[in-house]
Amino acid sequence: TKTIYILAIESSCDDTSAAVLCNDEVLSNVVATQKIHKEYGGVVPELASRAHQQNIVPVVHQALAKANIDKKQLSAIAFTRGPGLMGSLLVGTSFAKSLALGLNIPLIEVNHMQAHLLAHFIADKDNTKPTFPFIGLTISGGHTQIVLVKDYFKMEVLGQTLDDAVGEAFDKSAKILGLPYPGGPLIDKYASDGNAKKYEFPIPKVGELDFSFSGLKTNILYFIQKEVKKDSEFITDNLEDICASIQYTIVKILLLKLKNAIKQTGIKQIAIGGGVSANSGIRKALKDKEKTNQWQTYIPKFEYCTDNAAMIGIVGYLKYQEELFSKQDITANARYRI
Ligand code: KG4
Ligand code: ZN
Repeated sequence: TKTIYILAIESSCDDTSAAVLCNDEVLSNVVATQKIHKEYGGVVPELASRAHQQNIVPVVHQALAKANIDKKQLSAIAFTRGPGLMGSLLVGTSFAKSLALGLNIPLIEVNHMQAHLLAHFIADKDNTKPTFPFIGLTISGGHTQIVLVKDYFKMEVLGQTLDDAVGEAFDKSAKILGLPYPGGPLIDKYASDGNAKKYEFPIPKVGELDFSFSGLKTNILYFIQKEVKKDSEFITDNLEDICASIQYTIVKILLLKLKNAIKQTGIKQIAIGGGVSANSGIRKALKDKEKTNQWQTYIPKFEYCTDNAAMIGIVGYLKYQEELFSKQDITANARYRI
């Protein structure tokens, strides 16, 4: 069979990324993370799209150079059509369309949420791949979704967040504690030395497979404000325990939803993706469930969990084989559904 080289482009949020794949193998995966948003404590859409414009050409050049591939060897260009920030998506979409037109090769649109789950099919000798059907859990700063994955392109959203994403729950809690953005990894770090049962936060009441994190954030805020009023050193003196308790609550919510999904579908294979997959609490909880409840859990390499173009490339490869190509009149779709 023919060797396929895909150049993939991801620009849905605040990371500009380009990757080159040879079939299902990643030859390069370059990510330019935008530092500018740190000053604002969150992603500023207008600044994100401007930074994408500055980054996209050098990032694509680097990806080709690292892969040692000339653009004339490319079989197709894959790009993130959505969902994401419109201004950010437009940069990648226009770039991909122009390049495909210039090189006269197929253009392949990719749904970012599908890509997070199909990242599990990137060739990796250290990891086994899930088999269909499986339950996908996408957890990041922008998304929180439980998906029934019946086949590569047959997915059904079973539940999602009604307000904040789980990464936002981590980041906003961290902000309340005075930690810098993005605070998720810091909560994880401090949690490792803390007592997770010290403070109890209520589990939000929503649909069996839906999530809601804004109430949890408010509960944490009020609790901290009340304690700080009594003791101005409360946060510094109890940081580890507070972080451990917050993380424990969030992991408990995720596990509860997974349990409900397993009950509803009878499927015990769980594949996760998104930046929050790095969290050691969720990783440990999933490993424990493998032993106690015979779950089979899958976590891709961290670089394929956070936003990256390699996951867009694997979808490009899978679609190329089925000749699922896009026309030149394709447009970005900020609310693109799975
Ligand atoms: O996938 P990602 O890099 O970007 C998008 O949001 O799309 O995910 C970033 C999110 C942030 O909210 C960050 O705080 C969170 O993932 N995160 C973590 C950890 N590492 C990253 N949250 C908790 N524990 C971690 N170890
Ligand atoms: Zn993402």
